[in-house]
Amino acid sequence: MCGIIGYVGGRPCQRLLLDGLRKLEYRGYDSAGMAWREGEMARCIRAVGNLDSLESVLACAVGDGGVATATATVSAGIAHTRWATHGGVTEINAHPHEDASGRFRIVLNGIIENHLELRDRLAADLVTLRSDTDAEVVAHLLALHYDGNLAEAVRRSLDELEGHYALVAMCDEEPDTLVGVRRECPLVVGLGDGEQFIASSISAFLAHTREAAVLSDEEIAVLRPHEVEVFDVKGLRHRPASTQVEWDEDRCEKDGFETFMLKEIHEQGSAVRETLSQWRANPELSEDGALAAERLAAVKRIVIVACGTSYHAGLAARNAIERWARIPVEVEVASEFRYREPIVADGALVLGISQSGETADTLAAMRLAKAQGATVLAVTNTPASQATREADGVLFTRAGLEIGVAATKTFVAQVVLLYELALRLAAVTGAQSPATMAELHDQLEQLPQLIDQVLSSVDEPIRGLAGRLALSPFFLYLGRLAGLPVALEGALKLKEISYVPTDAYAAGEMKHGPIALLSRETPVICVATDERVLPKLLSNLSEVRARGARVLAIATEGSREIAEHAEHVVYIPRADPLMQCVLAIVPLQLFAYHLARARGLNVDQPRNLAKTVTVE
Ligand code: AGP
Repeated sequence: MCGIIGYVGGRPCQRLLLDGLRKLEYRGYDSAGMAWREGEMARCIRAVGNLDSLESVLACAVGDGGVATATATVSAGIAHTRWATHGGVTEINAHPHEDASGRFRIVLNGIIENHLELRDRLAADLVTLRSDTDAEVVAHLLALHYDGNLAEAVRRSLDELEGHYALVAMCDEEPDTLVGVRRECPLVVGLGDGEQFIASSISAFLAHTREAAVLSDEEIAVLRPHEVEVFDVKGLRHRPASTQVEWDEDRCEKDGFETFMLKEIHEQGSAVRETLSQWRANPELSEDGALAAERLAAVKRIVIVACGTSYHAGLAARNAIERWARIPVEVEVASEFRYREPIVADGALVLGISQSGETADTLAAMRLAKAQGATVLAVTNTPASQATREADGVLFTRAGLEIGVAATKTFVAQVVLLYELALRLAAVTGAQSPATMAELHDQLEQLPQLIDQVLSSVDEPIRGLAGRLALSPFFLYLGRLAGLPVALEGALKLKEISYVPTDAYAAGEMKHGPIALLSRETPVICVATDERVLPKLLSNLSEVRARGARVLAIATEGSREIAEHAEHVVYIPRADPLMQCVLAIVPLQLFAYHLARARGLNVDQPRNLAKTVTVE
């Protein structure tokens, strides 16, 4: 994720843009940049690091603490805060990007999936690109398509761009105009008096205007100081549908959600979309030593080390790698592994999963494995974290910054990234038929949309249920096969934010002990999505109900018998049982969330917990 903002109006724009970027910094902060017009001249600055670095560069560029005085009646500018996807964290890769003539500038959030193809096409036209980014191609395309109308150049370029993105463009020929467009990434226009804003989030311009127009997919917004026009891809004019934003600044930073955790739960579709799309758009990943086919072919065993939620993602990954690629996998709690004197045979591939990339136990386990000769890959959401510096290779999830202490969107991003790895391993081992591989790839691709569908259908019923069960003293979570990591993660979510005791078990283990906990007061939450073991699970549920306990089941649409074994059933779409992990966790996250809120708790900062655990 990156954050973008644009301004056109009568005020000097540099400080406005910088202040707006500060509100977007949660979206990315490894480098930043800004371009603006100063009289007849266009200026562009970039800096590696967070926005303080950009502020220093700006102060040098314009003096006066970064506040330039207006040198023309109209000022226009665009700015960007980056979370690197394509190309390293360098000044040259920071936005804004320019075409070869320096007349067209763009800032972009998202991914251009066919950028390699477009690079080849531009190279054939003798266009030289300066950066390694996917975004730069857009500036060059605008130059190729421009014939006096920037909005039209953007519209023509859209036909050639694949992927999901939001971008804002400006050009020297139209100094009082900004053009923005979005495809599956957020972009919202702020309508002012003699000035207009456009940004990834309302929070970026809330201090200046409360009138906002959210753009629909592929709508093109043309901003000039005294007007905003909106066109569709056919060039037909639309009325911008604006609303008055009633949120306060705090709510605005959460994009209107009451907490960061709820916002992040709702961002899971896009976290999965970004993660999948950067994996697919980045074939160099496969050429990276650690993921080259001949290296993967030599992998005889995989060891996963992780803590907490990341450990649960590891359990889901084990199911996928063993089932699809037929390679044995062990999943280890990092704090145990590091002291157990484990034997990591030469030739083992070790995956250290950590959203923060800074978890002390996971880092120690990775070091230990490396010292024993294993190839170690980090799976992380955090660029430049310690895990990225120590591993032999890095696989990045693209969930964007997660602020809530309870991991939600980083979990689903980890699972789908590890599923992609499982499919790459399966391609190397040849354990699945081409038809099965194609079907699995297809199902992965559909997950973002299915997550959004689950979110909109289950939120209300789950909220009601959580309210009714809010005073229960204990919850038992059960699952089998693909449902087990989901049950474990659901139980962790509930205990960490609601402080209600939970236990989570493989359902077949219940009669070996936990059944003693059951009474009429015990809600049992059962992940009953994996139809390979559904009959077994139903008989486990009969045992539960014979003790008078109440059952809430997460099941697959169309699954009939479950309704006879549970008081409440939440249905999720039918898919491969492993894919359903990513869907089944959503109602459990919402259940934990609403139950904690019903108990009046601070879900973003639960007691005793830290987002990054850098100590043992
Ligand atoms: C998740 O909700 C928890 N906050 C915690 O279990 C977390 O997953 C664990 O500390 C591991 O963190 P990491 O992914 O940053 O390594």
